[in-house]
Amino acid sequence: MNGNNHIPVLLEEVLDFLDIKREGIYIDCTIGLGGHALEILKRNPNVTLIGFDIDEKSLLEAKKKLQPYENRVELYHSDFRYLPDLKMDFSHIRGILLDLGVSSFQLDSPERGFSFNHEGPLDMRMDLRNKITALKIINKYSEHKLADLFREYGELRQSKRLAREIISHRRAKKIETTTQLLHIVEKICRWRPQKGKTHPAAKVFQALRIEVNQELRSLSGFLERISQKIPKKGRIIAISFHSLEDRIIKHTFRQLAVSENSHSFLKILTKKPIIPSEEEVASNFRARSAKLRAVERV
Ligand SMILES: C[S@@+](CC[C@H](N)C(=O)[O-])C[C@H]1O[C@@H](n2cnc3c(N)ncnc32)[C@H](O)[C@@H]1O
Repeated sequence: MNGNNHIPVLLEEVLDFLDIKREGIYIDCTIGLGGHALEILKRNPNVTLIGFDIDEKSLLEAKKKLQPYENRVELYHSDFRYLPDLKMDFSHIRGILLDLGVSSFQLDSPERGFSFNHEGPLDMRMDLRNKITALKIINKYSEHKLADLFREYGELRQSKRLAREIISHRRAKKIETTTQLLHIVEKICRWRPQKGKTHPAAKVFQALRIEVNQELRSLSGFLERISQKIPKKGRIIAISFHSLEDRIIKHTFRQLAVSENSHSFLKILTKKPIIPSEEEVASNFRARSAKLRAVERV
């Protein structure tokens, strides 16, 4: 797969909430294949875009896509959590976008090991500089640690039984591929395809991915720090794809919107999260679990 068949999620809603008519700097914290970024640059010639991604391959795709606008683009192969430390004038920032999680580009690359729909190595690293892989977690974590992981990050009912089965399997043979893990999950969860039911492996793979990439680490701290750095009327838009992430975003935004000593940092622009229309889900299945929340600095 390359960047050309990628559809950005909730595109018009993102552009509306970012209010991209304004001149200034917009920051795409998770640039991925540059889908949202391209539209921002196309629709306003007075915008400079700063993009972050921890996945170097995605960043290269984004660079190609944004090449016609290269004089207005700055890209960083970095975790967006370092954004508040960037030496720059934050007073020109108009909007910040986080489109969290894994991209279709990553999911559809079997060698990355993100998807149980493809045979591949148990890797799941977004940043290949990272030392922890899904392979290490599955083959080295204790039974107790694995069970906690599947319960906390996958919200899987059979987390203890699955952890026990993994330990017994790996005693006989190292678990190395996505398919090996898929078969263990299907056996323990007694999976039978049923309309409207999520495959239990989706929860297990989600849990592993969150652990490998430390996806929830300091998300709340980041939102707090960046909210304090951006100027008045600066906006933050966050799209999440699972309830753990959405909960962190919702609570952090709420806390910062509550006035403390008669000073609050944020105004919430979305009382309820914005979700994709049925038409969008029909044309882009990945969008089905997206939730968008937006705030403005006051
Ligand atoms: C859902 S995709 C973004 C898609 C993008 N909005 C587009 O339209 O092409 C999420 C991207 O965020 C990146 N990512 C995830 N966590 C990150 C982090 N902490 N810092 C920087 N990038 C991150 C992933 O590597 C992935 O490329």
